[in-house]
Amino acid sequence: MQKIYVKPKDYWMNDPNGFIYYKGMYHLFYQCFPYAPRWGRMHWGHVVSKDLVNWEEQGIALFPSKTDDRSGCFSGSAIEEDGKMQLYYTGVNYLTENPEDINLCVDEHFVSAQLMITSEDGIHFDNIKDKKTVIPVIHDADIGDARHTRDPKVWKDGDIWYMVLGSTINDKQGKLLFFTSTDGEEWKFENSVTRENFGWMWECPDYFKIGDKKLLSTSVQGLEGGIWEDRNVYQSGYFEIEGDILGEYKLSEYHLWDYGFDYYAPQSFETEDGRRIHISWMGMPDCEEYSNPTIQTGWQHCFTFPREIFEKDGKICQRPIRELEEKKHLVSDVKGMLAGEGYPVYEMTISDITKNRFKVILSEKLILDYADGKFRMHFTDQDKTSVSSGRSMRYVEVEEVENLKILADTSSVEVFVNDGEYVFSTRYYPEVYKLQAEAVGAQITLSEIM
Ligand code: FRU
Repeated sequence: MQKIYVKPKDYWMNDPNGFIYYKGMYHLFYQCFPYAPRWGRMHWGHVVSKDLVNWEEQGIALFPSKTDDRSGCFSGSAIEEDGKMQLYYTGVNYLTENPEDINLCVDEHFVSAQLMITSEDGIHFDNIKDKKTVIPVIHDADIGDARHTRDPKVWKDGDIWYMVLGSTINDKQGKLLFFTSTDGEEWKFENSVTRENFGWMWECPDYFKIGDKKLLSTSVQGLEGGIWEDRNVYQSGYFEIEGDILGEYKLSEYHLWDYGFDYYAPQSFETEDGRRIHISWMGMPDCEEYSNPTIQTGWQHCFTFPREIFEKDGKICQRPIRELEEKKHLVSDVKGMLAGEGYPVYEMTISDITKNRFKVILSEKLILDYADGKFRMHFTDQDKTSVSSGRSMRYVEVEEVENLKILADTSSVEVFVNDGEYVFSTRYYPEVYKLQAEAVGAQITLSEIM
């Protein structure tokens, strides 16, 4: 059972959707299949929170109910307009005899449209007759793909509405589509962003500024060869944009949001006090390498803890949101070495590490260390019945590790390296909650999260 990480009450969860602060509450929706702990015909689950730490289940918000979304309500986003909450999402329609059984629909005969629904209070979405298709299936291949165009992220800048969608060029090259609108209902295609030889599908896009930097985030499928061989099957990261996404632009290299095993499809929003916070599915689609034993107890997957994205010395970094501070209870603050047992939910920090001399062992099987110019997260045992449930090693090349922050819940760990310049997320399934940390001369603190 996870404590501070959002998980589905039962069954299946994937992407975060519709992350928004609305009428005094944080709302977070998620891709869910409410009938089995596996992916299926997608619905939107819904949780709300006053502090981004404790979440309350609200039940199903969106479910397939019209031709355009009869095979699933895929990912999307939320926006407030005139005091109402508007959700934008992708409706999927399998063109088969039985469109409700997505297991019969692996033959790729489907189309995708972008839909919208408005709620007076952000809780009730039962006016299903008011679902509107705002961007019908795109049949012009020069614009987008009729099947793989999805995950509308909508925002407003002044009077102009913007939408970015994930897509592909002929199932060969990932692409993002930008639309604008003056009312949130009539949308005009403006521009697309792509890069050659960089994956076949770009999905779950997001666009925002951190200081002066314009970031275009997307999850990419189909990166192979070279460095990608040591990484996950799919990636989530961002490009920095120079120029104008609606005109002339230049994309930087692609930076990963996370180097761990379980991280995909993050979505962000801006808080009232101007922080850019994102949250991600702590899972990985189409992954054969490892699995999750929670399936046996009827659920699968959770989210990462919400992270603030910020800039430090010109670098984009991430840290757990500060709302966590109030939940922390200091257990020990020592130099050089720490051992503890019986804390399933905690934060551990190691600061002032010198010469990369540190080693952390979590639950006897998950190791964080430094070797051959790499920060590494690895499991001692890759067996599917072990703590790793099949996970092996992830790493990043870095000259110097100066500090680490480890945030753990019952079955998940996030490690922030060098003030969050690199982050590693993984699920793990411990039999014992044991902590061992060694770092000559460094300061080590352990706080339990209550
Ligand atoms: C990403 C994704 C999205 C899609 C959703 C369907 O994990 O494939 O592109 O909207 O999952 O559940």
